Amino acid sequence: MVHFAAFSLVGESMTEPLKYFDNNTYGMMQLLEVMRDTGVNKLVFSSTAAVYGIPEEVPIKETTPTKPINPYGESKLQMEQIMAWADAAYGIKGVALRYFNVAGAVEDGAIGEDHNPETHLVPNVLFAALGKKDKITMFGNDYATPDGFNVRDYVHPIDLASAHVLALEYLAREGRSDVFNLGSSTGFSVKQIVDAAEKVVGRSIPQEVGPRRPGDPDTLIADSTKARSVLGWQPRYDDVEHIIATAWKWTEAHPYGYGDDK
Ligand SMILES: NC(=O)c1ccc[n+]([C@@H]2O[C@H](COP(=O)([O-])OP(=O)(O)OC[C@H]3O[C@@H](n4cnc5c(N)ncnc54)[C@H](O)[C@@H]3O)[C@@H](O)[C@H]2O)c1
Repeated sequence: MVHFAAFSLVGESMTEPLKYFDNNTYGMMQLLEVMRDTGVNKLVFSSTAAVYGIPEEVPIKETTPTKPINPYGESKLQMEQIMAWADAAYGIKGVALRYFNVAGAVEDGAIGEDHNPETHLVPNVLFAALGKKDKITMFGNDYATPDGFNVRDYVHPIDLASAHVLALEYLAREGRSDVFNLGSSTGFSVKQIVDAAEKVVGRSIPQEVGPRRPGDPDTLIADSTKARSVLGWQPRYDDVEHIIATAWKWTEAHPYGYGDDK
């Protein structure tokens, strides 16, 4: 079983926390009940770097203390904890994959991301490049980072997909529950992403610096050594311009996401 479904808007989770604990946390309980009752005993779960909150150390290891600072991250941590108890009681083995910032599309631009509302940086930068948005707002330039903008770790969905296959193989082979960070282990600031996107699209992108958003940590970079050494994960997309180029191919071909394709 691979469990991707969740509500995942951090801002919304702050104003509607019960919606998140209901759908995410209680949803996991319901899934585990059905798995127990039907004898399905292996689960790979989409967790998140949001379980770490403002991390005590960077790069972030799986052993870095988990202290979520929003109900979204808290609900995902609860889901991991419930999985551990379901393992202890029913022998349902689970791998939690803590994704960092997911960005990119398949190389031919046929499959990409389409959220409504879109809150992720890369698609929003590309919407500004397309003129679908007036400009990209970068939230705060006075963080404790080299250029003052938040630093994040970007991971491509194709690399995530291969990690899920490896996690299923790991469960079949080792029969042990575990948790892994999935990030490229390289950090890029918001400004570096906008600069890289300008290179990819070949023109300047309208931009502004806005106020900080509450609860944004300075830097989130994964230590993904464990996924590499234990699962044998080898992310192919370690070049952020390449990741953005794949997203641009998708965005240019599908400016309205899947809406036009239906
Ligand atoms: N995109 C990221 O950067 C990122 C980072 C960390 C973790 N994640 C996690 O990865 C998973 C996928 O993320 P995404 O960005 O594709 O999110 P998404 O919101 O695009 O996809 C989640 C999907 O789950 C569906 N869903 C939600 N609740 C459901 C339910 N009760 N029953 C059936 N379907 C339900 C939603 O309708 C949506 O289609 C989520 O669990 C998310 O928390 C994503």
